[in-house]
Amino acid sequence: MVFLTRRYRFSAAHRLHNEALSPEENARLYGKCNNPYGHGHNYTVEVTVRGPIDAATGMLIDLGLLDGIVEREVLERFDHTHLNLDVANFKGKVPTTENLCLEIFNLLRDKLDAIGQPARLDKVRLEETNSNFFEYTGYYPDPAERAASEKR
Ligand code: NI
Repeated sequence: MVFLTRRYRFSAAHRLHNEALSPEENARLYGKCNNPYGHGHNYTVEVTVRGPIDAATGMLIDLGLLDGIVEREVLERFDHTHLNLDVANFKGKVPTTENLCLEIFNLLRDKLDAIGQPARLDKVRLEETNSNFFEYTGYYPDPAERAASEKR
């Protein structure tokens, strides 16, 4: 099995705020990330696909197809937006980078499965700052482990 990782970039603003909590609880939980007007990040997203090498092309996946899916599903949807205000995906959901990472994974998985190539989405790695990044993988050999990871 071969793994390919492709790197993309986008910029977005967010505010960490849970409507179900009081202003004081939000401030305590999220600190300055709860500031009313939000703040921005230059995100780097790395998309990893896995699969066999195609005998005819010598490749895992047509990069143009992968780029097109990421462009449509991720970059056009999130780049230069305020995640809390502009993006339907985060209505009623706190746009932490953990949640954004999972959202990107879910947006890409089915689209990749649908293009008729053997490559499957393996992992999304979302870098928020130089100091931290999050990873989500939907690939769990054990179905119970997978179900637990999707329970939020
Ligand atoms: Ni932030």
